[in-house]
Amino acid sequence: MQRALFSRSALLAQQAAAALDSPLASRSAPLLQRLDRSMSSVTIPPPACMLRPLEAPLRYLFGPGPSNVPPRILAVGAKPIIGHLHPEMYEIMNDIKRGIQYAFQTENNMTISMSGSGHAAMECAVFNTVEPGESVLVAVNGIWGERVAEIAERMGANVHRMVKTPGGYFSNKEIEQAVEKHKPVLFFLTHGESSAGLCHPVDGIGDICRKHNCLFLVDTVASLGAAPIFMDKQNIDILYTGSQKALNAPPGTAPISFNERACHKMFNRKTKPVSYLFDMTHLSNYWGCDGKPARLIVYVTHYVPHWCCNVVTTVISSHVLQDLRLPSVTTIAIPDGYEWRELLAYIMKHHQMEMTGGLGPSIGMVMRIGLMGYNCEKTNADMALNALADALKNCKKSKA
Ligand SMILES: Cc1ncc(COP(=O)(O)O)c(C=O)c1O
Repeated sequence: MQRALFSRSALLAQQAAAALDSPLASRSAPLLQRLDRSMSSVTIPPPACMLRPLEAPLRYLFGPGPSNVPPRILAVGAKPIIGHLHPEMYEIMNDIKRGIQYAFQTENNMTISMSGSGHAAMECAVFNTVEPGESVLVAVNGIWGERVAEIAERMGANVHRMVKTPGGYFSNKEIEQAVEKHKPVLFFLTHGESSAGLCHPVDGIGDICRKHNCLFLVDTVASLGAAPIFMDKQNIDILYTGSQKALNAPPGTAPISFNERACHKMFNRKTKPVSYLFDMTHLSNYWGCDGKPARLIVYVTHYVPHWCCNVVTTVISSHVLQDLRLPSVTTIAIPDGYEWRELLAYIMKHHQMEMTGGLGPSIGMVMRIGLMGYNCEKTNADMALNALADALKNCKKSKA
């Protein structure tokens, strides 16, 4: 069957070339015969799914991300592809850099957007600033601190965890005591702990880290664009985020910024970072951040994140202190007697709406609703509440 398919396409190409009277017409017959012969050795047929158009249903993405992407941003995806070394590409990258500097409120020159999701920026931050055997302190109050601790352990760091129950927060005094004890080169904190729905205070922690010669790394994947953060004013040394949450862009790019202190540490290492792809020596050159005259190293294309404001959405009770609620992701205690998976499945089936369960340590404790950026409208909040009420009415209580 596939032989017939390739033969047909070869014939079509031949006819087209002949019709155009191109030089290819005279040379194409032997070439196409060879092509036809080589294709005939293909034994695995093209899968049927490759022959039908891609379908993506319209859903209300009211979970902790990804969020719905506004038409203005979707339209950008239809622009022509340009080469990754074209001058226009560098201009676009410079614009992206300025946009990130604004969103992060920083003047850091070492500001780029990684190809990859939030995890890419997470690994980039740790891999570049920490060397094997060095001490790293991680605040764990949900899944993301634990994830960074594991990443740092995998690359051979000496990891110390400060642990709270999901949704708990750390006082500056507790942080300073732990920094004094473990003398880390890096302290990690999640600003928007999306597994627990907590927005952690940041003020004063950068000063503590400076005093103890430690870098302050902050994850804002679930909070940037929804809760205020001021990288320079708050003395944050490394800050990263993701594109698919409150910024309402497609997933796949992760903005990150390093200040002078972080650059000093990462460019004066004894060992090379464990990852080639995430090595800031290469990335900073491609992004024109290293002060060298030309972009010397071939790298990969990135695309445009954008800034979008967000306001506080529905607040329903769970364990998180009310004034530390994360504006972008609201955790809801699972209503008594209900099976949370059934509620979520009902809402998806009858309302085409995504909400999610807990994540990591909050699984089985909470459901999570995110109304981020473009999605953050009163009508959407009302729709989400209606869907929840409908689910409570129609799903049976399965637990005592
Ligand atoms: C706070 C936080 N950090 C990191 C991540 C990981 O980001 P990504 O899924 O884009 O890799 C997430 C994802 O939900 C997150 O909420």
